Amino acid sequence: MDAQIAAHRAEPRDDLTSFLVSAELDGQKLLPEHIRGTMVLLMIAGIDTTWSAIGAALWHLGSHPDDRRRLAAEPVLMDTAVEELLRAYAPVTMARLVAKDFDLGGQSLHEGDWLLLPFPAANRDPEAFADPAEVHLDRADNRHAAFGLGIHRCLGSNLARMELRVALEEWMARYPEFEVSDSAAVTWSSGQVRGPRTLPVRVA
Ligand code: HEM
Repeated sequence: MDAQIAAHRAEPRDDLTSFLVSAELDGQKLLPEHIRGTMVLLMIAGIDTTWSAIGAALWHLGSHPDDRRRLAAEPVLMDTAVEELLRAYAPVTMARLVAKDFDLGGQSLHEGDWLLLPFPAANRDPEAFADPAEVHLDRADNRHAAFGLGIHRCLGSNLARMELRVALEEWMARYPEFEVSDSAAVTWSSGQVRGPRTLPVRVA
């Protein structure tokens, strides 16, 4: 990253690194660690999140032939399908550090405690979603939390949506007939970003 920043200082171009190098906040240029940190954050936040979402969507379609056939026959469903697959297989769980002691739903939280925000669980809350455990590719009412909530809500959500839509459109156009070929061989990551890591498929 430092080499990339130095090369862009020497020779500015029309890209994100040069944008950050020349950006100002309150009349001051950004500190080098701020530029580097922003680049690292964008890279980390933008990579395994999207490939996990794309992988989970392909896993679903490859193991639910009715949904795969329906999406192949009705590409107009793509927008709602993308949101529904994000809801059902939300890849990201975040955490917060408790700033001061307080009670939440009868639990005492103490300054310095870590608190997990399990967005995937929120997305299957029966009080918020009808039929939460089922995937409905045409689900219209879908205010899911896959991109988080509040001031830290995902900065790249619309880029992520586009990546997921383009990946599925291209895949379905090229391989409308496909299936998970060996479900016992499928592996999923665990932890804060969840998605398939091994996904053997058979294409027709
Ligand atoms: C399907 C793909 C993605 C998912 C599910 C996702 C999900 C999330 C979630 C849950 C958060 C945290 C919200 C919170 O802490 O309250 C977040 C933050 C963030 N995401 Fe994404 N993300 C995705 C793709 C991307 C992409 C492609 C980029 C940019 C290239 C990106 C950039 C960021 C950044 C910069 C933050 C931090 C925002 C902040 O703290 O203010 N994300 N994302």
